[in-house]
Amino acid sequence: MADLPAVERTVSGLRERVRAWRAAGRTVGLAPTMGALHDGHMALVRAARAECDHVVVSIFVNPAQFGPREDFDSYPRQKARDLAMLREAGVEVAFMPDVAEVYPEGFATTVTVSGLTECLCGRDRPVHFQGVATVVTKLLLQCLPDAAFFGEKDFQQLQVIRRLARDLDIPVAIRGVETVREADDVALSSRNAYLTSAQRARAPAMIAALRHVAVRLGEGITAAEACAEGCRMLDEAGFDRIDYLEIREEDGLVLVDARPVPSRPARAFAAAFLGDTRLIDNWPV
Ligand code: PAJ
Repeated sequence: MADLPAVERTVSGLRERVRAWRAAGRTVGLAPTMGALHDGHMALVRAARAECDHVVVSIFVNPAQFGPREDFDSYPRQKARDLAMLREAGVEVAFMPDVAEVYPEGFATTVTVSGLTECLCGRDRPVHFQGVATVVTKLLLQCLPDAAFFGEKDFQQLQVIRRLARDLDIPVAIRGVETVREADDVALSSRNAYLTSAQRARAPAMIAALRHVAVRLGEGITAAEACAEGCRMLDEAGFDRIDYLEIREEDGLVLVDARPVPSRPARAFAAAFLGDTRLIDNWPV
């Protein structure tokens, strides 16, 4: 147990392990991450352990999903701490490929999921979801688990991944896991570490604004009015720039604006900046 998790750096090594488990009739769960693990990531691990006999966690800071002015170089990397957390959680394999293993010389294929990726976090970040979709497609095909686990915190990402798995006939069940929050309800995120203590004190306004939107919608005002109130709350709480605050249907991420109450499951989605740090969250309405 002490030498777990085994660190696999190659696709062939990962496949060998998964093949052995499958030959023994065992099921396999995969939780893809970019490391700097926190309890949100560990919730994916717990869900995977509850459903599958063996769990693989991938740790790969994927350059393809960062824009040119984003934080790829400074993204937190803490391998020893991550491995200790995975050991504690009983994860058998940490898949930690280097960039050349994932994107070998001459790599020329990208996965584009249209429709779901042009709104919300995709609007101002044209390459982001292409990078996510490409690496997740590769990870699913490299590991071929029975199920793969993703957080609802990145709800748009979850929907993009569900779509690509369906469209590309990837035989992996895609599971969504509820957002894990701090005591003050701020969603756990590796990027929270960038916040100063003054900024961190303002962060709870995001989930407060989303919940306010849900309550006001229930009271019968239109989605557009509810979102305008939510934006005012973020402004007043000291968020520096609001990227978006919108209500969208879960399925297809169709915008809800004029109609007062969405007829199908919907969520309020927000992205906003505290200084240079961009926070996102969502809440069912
Ligand atoms: P990363 O930001 O490391 O997140 C890995 C997984 O953890 C994602 O599925 C994310 O939704 C989930 N997660 C993060 N914070 C969470 C929280 N507070 N509660 C529940 N789940 C949470 O998302 C990525 O990496 C990458 O885009 C990836 C899918 C690995 C592809 O590179």
